[in-house]
Amino acid sequence: MADKLIIFDTTLRDGEQSPGASMTRDEKLRIARQLERLKVDVIEAGFAASSNGDFEAVQSIANAIKESVVCSLSRANDRDISQAALALKGAERARIHTFIATSALHMEKKLRMTPEQVLEQAKLSVRFARNLVADIEFSAEDAYRSDVDFLCRVIEGVIAEGATTINVPDTVGYAVPELYGHFIKTLRERVPNSDKAIWSVHCHNDLGMAVANSLAGVMIGGARQVECTINGLGERAGNCSLEEIVMAVKTRKDYYGLELGIDAKHIVATSRMVSQTTGFVVQPNKAVVGANAFAHASGIHQDGVLKARDTYEIMRAEDVGWSANKIVLGKLSGRNAFKQRLQDLGVQLESETDINSAFSKFKELADRKSEIFDEDILALVSDESVSQGQEQFSFVSLSQRSETGEKPHASIVFKFNGKEVKSESEGNGPVDASLKAIESYVKSGAEMVLYSVNAISGSTESQGEVTVRLQNSGRVVNGVGSDPDIVVASSKAYLSALNKLQSKSDRVAAQG
Ligand code: KIV
Ligand code: ZN
Repeated sequence: MADKLIIFDTTLRDGEQSPGASMTRDEKLRIARQLERLKVDVIEAGFAASSNGDFEAVQSIANAIKESVVCSLSRANDRDISQAALALKGAERARIHTFIATSALHMEKKLRMTPEQVLEQAKLSVRFARNLVADIEFSAEDAYRSDVDFLCRVIEGVIAEGATTINVPDTVGYAVPELYGHFIKTLRERVPNSDKAIWSVHCHNDLGMAVANSLAGVMIGGARQVECTINGLGERAGNCSLEEIVMAVKTRKDYYGLELGIDAKHIVATSRMVSQTTGFVVQPNKAVVGANAFAHASGIHQDGVLKARDTYEIMRAEDVGWSANKIVLGKLSGRNAFKQRLQDLGVQLESETDINSAFSKFKELADRKSEIFDEDILALVSDESVSQGQEQFSFVSLSQRSETGEKPHASIVFKFNGKEVKSESEGNGPVDASLKAIESYVKSGAEMVLYSVNAISGSTESQGEVTVRLQNSGRVVNGVGSDPDIVVASSKAYLSALNKLQSKSDRVAAQG
């Protein structure tokens, strides 16, 4: 394909490094399948050597994904690289992504290695990896703050050892577009064997310029791979956002002139899935995937759009998967209509049993809520996927009382290891009373670091989607629950977070 831009998605690795965004193996697998549907070229599935959980996640993604390249991150040492290769064994197309820091600051203060040691380690690691897998990406961590002469030597060395992609990260989001673009250009001009590898950009968003920097790396620098995440998820202020980079390149093809493999109509469903799984709510005015991205509030704009859409619209909402918030299903809709809608939304449930279970939840919801929107269906199947595992806790029923001047009281029934238990408590409000009732039985001792409620389809009739972030013994997990009753949604979210706290795993950070 003429001048293709490779989309490398790192939602499941760099995105997951965002505090509180950790995902279970099954959640990662589900997102990986969605990324394949979106037709991303490379899925960075995790960092196999960082924890048993991540190893298993990379392994199951490698076994399941057929179209996209599946990649694992690894530090530049033989043990990490071997773990990555082992986890990727079942992959149709595997990539090992090995990295080492090259800035003076990182080498001296973090690695405590001399530049010559780093150069040697980088070359040895790529040589070692190349004997296990043909597709090798090398990243010079903190490349943008590295000495150019030294960086050129490292890159020349690793290409000579067989690296096929060279990634130049702006690890701390310090770059500005023109300078970053010229930085990549200089490297490509000065490294004698630069034409033997594909060049890649990886920008963090600390100054809000990750997308602009990445595009400059492509246009000025000649990079042909962009590393990005859904919703811009990632460490600190996040990474370059996939939906923004993709729609910029597509919408301004007149300028960029690049081909993309992405099937953009799955963007909104993917964004929604990542936000529901991680509990990182998408801001309403976020480009492409924010709730207001295609809303026209002012009379003049509405009038213009009604007369000719392109007066105020540069992209079509349906091209990225928005269905204009239409009522799609109701009480009388049958199983086939439900299944078809799931397909249209790009949701693939694993088995007929899962579809049946989701359908019966849909019927329950339709009994309580006359209009079912796409957002409701996505929330419902997201709950469904979360509840597929062997859960320790699950919601059964709730009754609560609150009245002005009275202390709210809640009585909750939930399953604990398959057995129904009942617990009661008072609280400052009905939500507080319900969560205290759960906690007084479970005694997890976890600290709540975030509680947020979001109306799924924007009206008081809509389902509430609640995110609860809990922290315990250094672990941070998110639980998400949805229900038309926000007290029930809160209880479900709390129980879901408790389930995640049970699966303990220690992890090594990529930028630790
Ligand atoms: O930001 C960064 O430098 C990284 C590398 C590990 C590729 O994420
Ligand atoms: Zn990064």
